[in-house]
Amino acid sequence: MKKEIVCSGIRPTGNIHLGNYFGALRNFVKMQDEHDCYFFIADYHSLTTHPTPEHLYANARQILVEYLAAGLDPEKATIYLQSDLPETIELYLFLNMNAYLGELERVTSFKDKVRQQPNNVNAGLLTYPTLMAADILIHKAAKVPVGKDQEQHLEMTRTFAQRFNNMYKCEAFPLPQAYNFGGELVKIPGLNGSGKMGKSEGEGNAIFFVDEPAVLKKKIMRAKTDSGPTQPNQEKPEEIKNLFQLMKVVSTPDTVAYFDDLYNKCEIRYGDMKKQLAEDMENFVAPFRERIKELGSDEARLNRIMDMGKEKAHESARRTIDEVRHIIGYRN
Ligand code: TRP
Repeated sequence: MKKEIVCSGIRPTGNIHLGNYFGALRNFVKMQDEHDCYFFIADYHSLTTHPTPEHLYANARQILVEYLAAGLDPEKATIYLQSDLPETIELYLFLNMNAYLGELERVTSFKDKVRQQPNNVNAGLLTYPTLMAADILIHKAAKVPVGKDQEQHLEMTRTFAQRFNNMYKCEAFPLPQAYNFGGELVKIPGLNGSGKMGKSEGEGNAIFFVDEPAVLKKKIMRAKTDSGPTQPNQEKPEEIKNLFQLMKVVSTPDTVAYFDDLYNKCEIRYGDMKKQLAEDMENFVAPFRERIKELGSDEARLNRIMDMGKEKAHESARRTIDEVRHIIGYRN
């Protein structure tokens, strides 16, 4: 049977945090054995925020290190930098010719950006979904492991793919689906009471693989809590639910049940719970942190991996672009 094509990427806006891992990266690792996988670092998308040249490369390289530390294997999956695949940009241009202002303006992530950075509403932000569609369609991927926040972008990808197929009466592009390995999407909340773990959600909200033990502990001890339950079996407020959710992903079920029981009996001491969470979190994060240190110091190996990924990704992208140019009517 032909292997299914899988493609996904992460934008290098900072280090990998627990939210990236459980939302996407963990699925990349699980999928690489059974599928034909293309995992990239979205360093074209980075330009929407105008990074300096030093930051652009350093951030992209760091994401590569963290991909590897999380268990991605360059022998199994094609791992590459988006900017090493300029064919993506050609497809981006073709898709943009049939992407409409109205639909692009309605995208939730775009509307968020307009609110967050009203002085930098550039065309790259507006066409973020067409670039993302180009990333996926350049390999004709069928499955895209992403977190829940990317579902609308995936829907746009299907719209653009279908539109192209209709327009040229062809079946050049499959309609890719968001994918989560093994069912339920795990949503990772932040530490400051906000629903989502993320770098843009404020200082101290996210737990990064590179966090040193002391930093990690401090963040968790400072996590937002309320003044505690006053009645047995009381519904938990958002920030307490979040702490329990984090505990669920790094602690044993027994530990979670123990604190849940204390909560329900109004005997919980958040300080104790946080101490336990910090300890279990440290045990979870430590192996990643160690591997990041190791991998990050082997410049020659990183370069080899990037060259290898570039070559493999190029092969797949070239095939698609040649076909698409032919369909559109360009000279071969
Ligand atoms: N939008 C994704 C994020 O913010 C990154 C991304 C860019 C992506 N292109 C993609 C994800 C293509 C999946 C497929 O993390």
